[in-house]
Amino acid sequence: MTSYSFPFTRMRRTRAKKYIRNLVKENSLTVNDFIYPIFIVDGTDKKEPIPEMPGLYRYSLDNLKKELLNISHLNIPAVAIFPNISNNLKNSSGSEALNKNNIVCNAIKLIKDTNNELGIVCDVALDPYTDHGHDGIIINNYVDNDETVKILCEQALIQTEAGCDIIAPSDMMDGRIRKIRETLENNNHKNTLIMSYSAKYSSSFYSPFRHAVGSSKNFGLKDKSTYQMDYSNSKEAIREADLDISEGADMIMVKPGLPYLDIISKLNQKFDIPIFAYQVSGEYSMIMTAINNGLLDKSVIIETLTSFKRAGCSGILTYFAPIASKILNEDK
Ligand code: PBG
Repeated sequence: MTSYSFPFTRMRRTRAKKYIRNLVKENSLTVNDFIYPIFIVDGTDKKEPIPEMPGLYRYSLDNLKKELLNISHLNIPAVAIFPNISNNLKNSSGSEALNKNNIVCNAIKLIKDTNNELGIVCDVALDPYTDHGHDGIIINNYVDNDETVKILCEQALIQTEAGCDIIAPSDMMDGRIRKIRETLENNNHKNTLIMSYSAKYSSSFYSPFRHAVGSSKNFGLKDKSTYQMDYSNSKEAIREADLDISEGADMIMVKPGLPYLDIISKLNQKFDIPIFAYQVSGEYSMIMTAINNGLLDKSVIIETLTSFKRAGCSGILTYFAPIASKILNEDK
């Protein structure tokens, strides 16, 4: 009688060689998963390093064009643009957001002229434009929901008319997805996509971003907890996503990324809609600082991004988009 050794089931069989590891791989990351957020600034010939986000810059529009041409061979599907405007353009109502010639609208036109195939994502929120740094307007010491939504609809329309493909409301006001969708439909913008920041948590991981767009100085130690979600909650994320989908969102987003994989996974089980994660500035800066100091290998970038795919994401907004694309190309 043949004697069998135990264990019969050897999980390591499918790990023994690269070919079999590749065959049983459940999730793979490709460049098609990336949206690259880029910071822009007024002026010419500017490429300002962002100290809080090592390796990233704010580009004036002429240099934005150069950066896009430099990375065009990577075929990243879309970029998200974030403006840093000078303080003298900021006021309590964020009126520069509604200027059809503001830097975001000009950037959209320039990107379309440079590469018509590249998808453009624009944030809808007032924080880069308000002197107090909040995402909406303040009435009686409170970020007023309904008055803010009226302005956001106009902002979304202006960005769409400039050529933006994907409107991404990041403000967390109630009811804004439906109001923006109605505004777009009423103005015959039937194919403009809405990617809703559905589950956006009030997070300290955004602080490098606030330096990058220049809102932190005015914002100080205030927080956005009267509109962004409490990180203790997860049921609420499901209700937020449910509402946004019923109001007309084409895609939903969870933000920040890595500490919120549980939320992504829950939403993925519940809804049949593309889900995106935003690997935010603080996550980028932690990882990049560790890599730059020799504490971690750059392969952690691909590991974190793949974990978003495993949790159920269609794609990821990540400042690592160009670096990650290069690493993926090297590995081929
Ligand atoms: C603005 C906005 C923020 C981010 C994206 N859009 C900051 C905030 O809500 O304060 C954060 C992105 C990042 O940290 O990378 N509404």
